Amino acid sequence: MAFELPPLPWAENALEPTISANTISFHYGKHHRTYLETLNKLIAGTDLESKSLDEVIAATASDPARVAIFNNAAQTWNHTFYWNSLKPGGGGAPTGELAERLTAAFGSYAQFAEQLKATAVGRFGSGWAWLVLENGQLKLMSTGNAEKPMPPQQKALLVIDVWEHAYYLDYQNRRPDYVQAVIDHLLNWEFAAANLAS
Ligand code: FE2
Repeated sequence: MAFELPPLPWAENALEPTISANTISFHYGKHHRTYLETLNKLIAGTDLESKSLDEVIAATASDPARVAIFNNAAQTWNHTFYWNSLKPGGGGAPTGELAERLTAAFGSYAQFAEQLKATAVGRFGSGWAWLVLENGQLKLMSTGNAEKPMPPQQKALLVIDVWEHAYYLDYQNRRPDYVQAVIDHLLNWEFAAANLAS
């Protein structure tokens, strides 16, 4: 059974002015779709065809012979997770348990935001900046290319895509400006809280 592209959780123009409808149109309609369609082609007729996306990722991670499948499966997963990590009117400090956990782990929301920005800006080349739960602790990490936090050791809570295709049309080379704007205006803390509780 082929994987399908999940609908965006908001309209293509809903994240403006932080991320333009033009960027979302290419990012979702071209990049995300191509990862998914390539994945479907690569697994057609193989033992992976009947697996869930999580199972395909787990089965192909660290397998050099199936790196193309892993890359396209993980990029399919990462992008769906990224769309859900953003929402119109999001960003700023969370409330409730997450606010307490962030303060305990990073000292304050401001220090967390500064470290998240540094993690995202500091990733050399293409990749992702993540808030994860690891061994019961909130932690920031970045991954290169298609790499992602791997369960059961790591549970992803939120992500920012720092591939150039995520920001180049709107910010050109100014990745720090894109990351700051996402942190201030788009992060979906309800999604992070739901992941933390799951
Ligand atoms: Fe992307």
